[in-house]
Order: sequence, then structure tokens, then C-alpha cells
Amino acid sequence: QEVPAAWRTDYAAVRHRLRRRRRDGHKGLYGHVLVVGGDHGTGGAVIMAAGGALRAGAGLVSVVTRSAHVSPLLGACPEAMVLGTEDVPDALDRLLPRASVVALGPGLGTAAWGRTLLRACIDSGKPLVVDADALNLLADTPEALPQAILTPHPGEAGRLLGMSTEAVQNDRWHALGLLCQRYQATAILKGAGTLIGGGDRPPRVCTGGNPGMATGGTGDVLTGICAGLVAQGLTLAEAAELAVCLHAEAGDQAAEHGERGMVATDLLEPLRALVNPI
Ligand code: APR
Ligand code: MG
Repeated sequence: QEVPAAWRTDYAAVRHRLRRRRRDGHKGLYGHVLVVGGDHGTGGAVIMAAGGALRAGAGLVSVVTRSAHVSPLLGACPEAMVLGTEDVPDALDRLLPRASVVALGPGLGTAAWGRTLLRACIDSGKPLVVDADALNLLADTPEALPQAILTPHPGEAGRLLGMSTEAVQNDRWHALGLLCQRYQATAILKGAGTLIGGGDRPPRVCTGGNPGMATGGTGDVLTGICAGLVAQGLTLAEAAELAVCLHAEAGDQAAEHGERGMVATDLLEPLRALVNPI
């Protein structure tokens, strides 16, 4: 599809939103990201989301996940505060009031455990970044989420819209509009040529990134970056666009060592410099 030049976006166009930190800055100024997810079998997803949030510059990052994942998570990411929860979301009730934004969904699963956590996060009224299985659960019982960024890949977008993945891919701009409209949300439609919409701004396309990023976990890193930027005070729409551009640029820098064999955590190292433009 032909795209007006004004709708294109990339890192060079949005990096000015990353101002230098004030000399007397402290972590309270940079927000608290709460990552919620990681059911049995998909515990790594919350590690990657936490990494994305930390490398995007969040002041604090907490994680609520299955108790079995607490130790491995602390080993991989000692900067995060981690609480395990099983059936009663007591850990969540303690952390939610302190969060500036919730990154909800990486590895969440679609069973009762995930459903309970999803409900508590939505009901908290906090800004949300909704990804992965949280999107699959949302598709079952759609509701307006004006305080959320939705980050579906085409398959998840299809489920959210009750259409096939092919229908989404045949008219991605239309699907983006429907996502924003139906969920009253900011939306990121992922994939080569990621689209960003919502927040009363014209939609955007980011053509950065590469097929080296087609590897498990890169989506979780994007979710963490989005939440990290919201925590630092950007609006949902600003954060969504900047996060997509940072993620794509980090992917392109990581791919300088080769696309094939890239892994999601390779995006974290280049991110560091990208969030600190000159
Ligand atoms: N060009 C540019 N960007 C790409 C390309 C490409 N060819 N391929 C992938 N990407 C980017 C996407 O735009 C997106 O930002 O990589 C990321 C992939 O994210 P997901 O599709 O969400 O994959 P991920 O989450 O890492 O996969 C793990 O979680 O959400 C579930 O169903 C999903 O099973 C999957 C699992
Ligand atoms: Mg994903």
C-alpha cells in the first residue's frame, strides 16, 4: 500500500523525545513498571519484558509471576523486584498501588491464573501495556481500554477483531483503525512495517527492523520498552511510537552481527545507547 511520507516514522524522527536527565534526577522521577505474566512454561517472557523496561530507563521494575519463576528471574535480572503468586493475587494487590504502569501479558497463559491477574490489573485503572495472552483473554471478552497500549502481532490482532490473520494482513491500516476504535485504545500492529495508532494522532508506520527479530521474545522486549517509556511520563501514544522505533533500531543494530541466530536479549545492549541520544 502507498503510504503518505508524513505517516512514516523512525528513530531519527522521534529520538528528540528522549531528553537528557536532570542532574538531580532520582528513581522516583522515572516511574515504576510492574510486569505481570509468566505462567508455567513461559517464564522467560517476563524476564525479557523486565529487561526492556529497565533498558528503556524505568526507575524501578517489579515482576509478579509464578513462584517457581522467582529464583531464575532474580538470577537473570537482579535489578528487578520479584514476587511470586499462585491462586490469590495478594502479591499483585501489594504492588499495583505503587506501579506507574503495568506491562501485562508476556507468558501470562489463558488459564484461570492469568485471567485473575488480568482482571485485577484492568480494575486498578493503571495505565497498561497489554500483550500476548492478555490480548488473547481480552479477545474473549472485549472491553474498552482507554488507558492501554495494545501490542498485537497479526494473529493476536485477528483474534481481537474476530477476523482471520490473513484479513488483518490484507489491510493492516484498516485493522489498526478497528483496533483503536473497538478498544478505545492506543494500538501497535506488529510485523514488518509496524503500525502505530490512537491518541487522536495520525497513524504511523515504522519500516525499521528486520527478519532477525522474528525470534521468540522480541515482542516481550517491546512490551517492556513501551511500559518503561510510559513510566517516564510519555503519553501512551508518544510512548508507543518511540518504543516501536527504538525496538526496530535496536534490532537493526543487533543484526549488524547477522540476522540469523539473533536472540531477543541481543536487543537490550544497543538500546542503552539509543535511549541516550548524544
Ligand atoms: N521485520 C521487522 N520486524 C519484525 C520482523 C520483520 N521481518 N519480524 C518480527 N519483527 C518484530 C515484530 O514487529 C515484533 O515487534 O519482532 C517482534 C515479534 O513480536 P511477537 O510476534 O509478539 O513475538 P514474541 O512475543 O517474541 O513471540 C513469542 O508470544 O505473543 C506470543 O504468540 C506470540 O508465540 C508468540 C510468543
Ligand atoms: Mg508476542
